Amino acid sequence: MGRMAVTTRAPGKIILAGEHAVVHGSTAVAASINLCTSVSILFSPGDMLKLELKDMELEFSWPIGKIKEVIPDFDTPSPSTPLPCSSETLKSIASLYEEQNIPEAKITLASGVSAFLWLYTATQGYKPATVTVTSELPLGAGLGSSAAFCVALSGALLALSECCELDYSQQGWLTLRNSELDLVNKWAFEGEKIIHGRPSGIDNTVSTYGNMIQFKSGEITRLKSNTPLKMLITNTKVGRNTKALVAGVSERTLRYPEAMTCVFKAVDSISKELSNIIQTSASNDIAVTEKEDKVEELMEMNQGLLQCMGVSHASIETVLRTTLKYKLRSKLTGAGGGGCVLTLLPTLLSSIVVDKVVAELESCGFQCFTAGIGGNGLEVCFSDNAQI
Ligand code: MEV
Repeated sequence: MGRMAVTTRAPGKIILAGEHAVVHGSTAVAASINLCTSVSILFSPGDMLKLELKDMELEFSWPIGKIKEVIPDFDTPSPSTPLPCSSETLKSIASLYEEQNIPEAKITLASGVSAFLWLYTATQGYKPATVTVTSELPLGAGLGSSAAFCVALSGALLALSECCELDYSQQGWLTLRNSELDLVNKWAFEGEKIIHGRPSGIDNTVSTYGNMIQFKSGEITRLKSNTPLKMLITNTKVGRNTKALVAGVSERTLRYPEAMTCVFKAVDSISKELSNIIQTSASNDIAVTEKEDKVEELMEMNQGLLQCMGVSHASIETVLRTTLKYKLRSKLTGAGGGGCVLTLLPTLLSSIVVDKVVAELESCGFQCFTAGIGGNGLEVCFSDNAQI
């Protein structure tokens, strides 16, 4: 008999090359970052399912009987078989949170609540519980907050099911086996589809497995780098909607199929070049500088193609111009349209320059931070009580 409480944490991500084009079959390169979303599940007596979003100070609760009326098929859920949510079920699920008065400013949250209700009932059926979510990731900023949520949630739900063979008596953070991670990744992808419509799966994949990966049409190659890349992340704080941006690129592709196919092909080559460069060893300062020069050049080329896809933004252009004044190259990361921008910080760059560029970016109202790149993916921790 397993424990009744579990906490998971799943990292956000940066995309070094290939966002958007990856939706159209090109190669992309992404890495996890050391900012996480945590989900805690505590099965409880009673007849309610509760969802607490701590950072947003929001709480939702549903009588189990009501959930059963709306999503009726899960008396015996099968967590080992990831299931897509049909559009009819999605419409019925919407009726569950329409009654909960989500504030207008937080309405994009609604699809996350739908993903929660689907993943929970499809894997656990109608068990009463309290699910608590906290996150270090800015929402909707291109750092994979929705994927980290779907991965942390799917991981917690599967850790409490018979699908995972975990040692409940172990203290501290545990990692799942590869086959268990594969299952978590598939469920998380079903959640991401509810939130984003037609995602490539790169965000949930990098959040599940961590490290640095090359991704093409669902195929993953783990990249091994011996020289860590240091990136400055600038959050423009301009909010945007990934689903709409992805749809915009698809519409442009329908209008100009030949031109856009060439753009996607160019991005594919850039991502492959970047993977190769990341994996070459650099044993002295000259080799490291050469490697960083190429990474910068490829990031700049990718940014040009993202502009061509129509997903840049005035705030992103301001970051590009500002960093270029200090001879630093940048590119947007994630869906664009605002969100976050990456700037490579070469190893030999003086901290005085970094401080100056950060001060100038922050004077424009942006928020800068550096994050550790390529750390662990999903981790699980059991306790008698949930940890958050
Ligand atoms: C979003 O982080 C990355 C996109 O390429 C969308 C996707 O891959 O699903 C814009």
